[in-house]
Amino acid sequence: MNLESFTDQVFNQDALEGMKLLPNESIDLIIADPPYNLGKDYGNDSDKRESEEFLRWTEKWLNLALTKLKPNGSLYIFATWRYSPEIFVFLKSKMIMLNEIIWDRKVPSMGGSTRRYSSVHDTIGFFAKSKEHYFDLDSIRIPYDEETKKARSRSIFVGKKWLEVGYNPKDLWSVSRLHRIHAEREDHPTQKPLEIVERMVRASCPENGIVLDPFAGTGTTAIACLQNNRRFITYELNPEYYELILNRINRIKDFFLEPPELPKNNHSSEKNKQMSLFLEGKN
Ligand SMILES: C[S@@+](CC[C@H](N)C(=O)[O-])C[C@H]1O[C@@H](n2cnc3c(N)ncnc32)[C@H](O)[C@@H]1O
Repeated sequence: MNLESFTDQVFNQDALEGMKLLPNESIDLIIADPPYNLGKDYGNDSDKRESEEFLRWTEKWLNLALTKLKPNGSLYIFATWRYSPEIFVFLKSKMIMLNEIIWDRKVPSMGGSTRRYSSVHDTIGFFAKSKEHYFDLDSIRIPYDEETKKARSRSIFVGKKWLEVGYNPKDLWSVSRLHRIHAEREDHPTQKPLEIVERMVRASCPENGIVLDPFAGTGTTAIACLQNNRRFITYELNPEYYELILNRINRIKDFFLEPPELPKNNHSSEKNKQMSLFLEGKN
């Protein structure tokens, strides 16, 4: 079947069945946030497997997904310390490992583990199929604030590109996990912040390119694609999450059709704030 018939769609389907139908080497980027095998309740048993079975299943879906990736495509995979060693060793036999990104979830210090250290991060593997992988650094640079710019005003820094355009993100990403007070928060145990997924989409998929997310959850990847002019293909087993994703997508489409009036000198942070309020139904 032709690729266009799958794009910008959410499928209420097992990703292993759905991905089989996609043409090989057609996807620019895979963002995978699979069950971590920590016993979470997704309304199914997908996060409650025996270790060996979990690893065999992981290799199976990865083998299938990688056949769909273009030769210059890349993959981000969310994991935790429990299985990231095995998963990364497996992926290193197939791909080039570019980074191990640590997502510091900014967990507040309140008690925690008493017989070992409290775990407060997710591990994200970033892999490419070849050295020619697509990576648009300029789209994800972090601008310096005025104070830092001033502090770097010595003559040796004047005219430096990085000072003007911002610095390149490091492999430690400190972004708060989502709480009830966050406008984008949906009813799902492991929803990822848009800020994280949007960075991946912008850096590693060209405009109009296609992002494949086998494990949609609340559809964060789909939303990040809609907001950044990329296309998506995504799967979710749980019919309730599937409905939730469709609602989330409809709200964002409404936002683009009828954007609220923004202040004249609005910049992107104001737009994002308005969009968050709108998505939450407050605008
Ligand atoms: C870690 S969550 C993804 C969260 C998502 N990144 C977000 O931001 O909302 C994994 C999701 O994969 C779904 N899932 C598990 N096995 C699946 C399969 N074989 N095919 C499709 N979805 C699956 C689960 O129901 C769960 O919602």
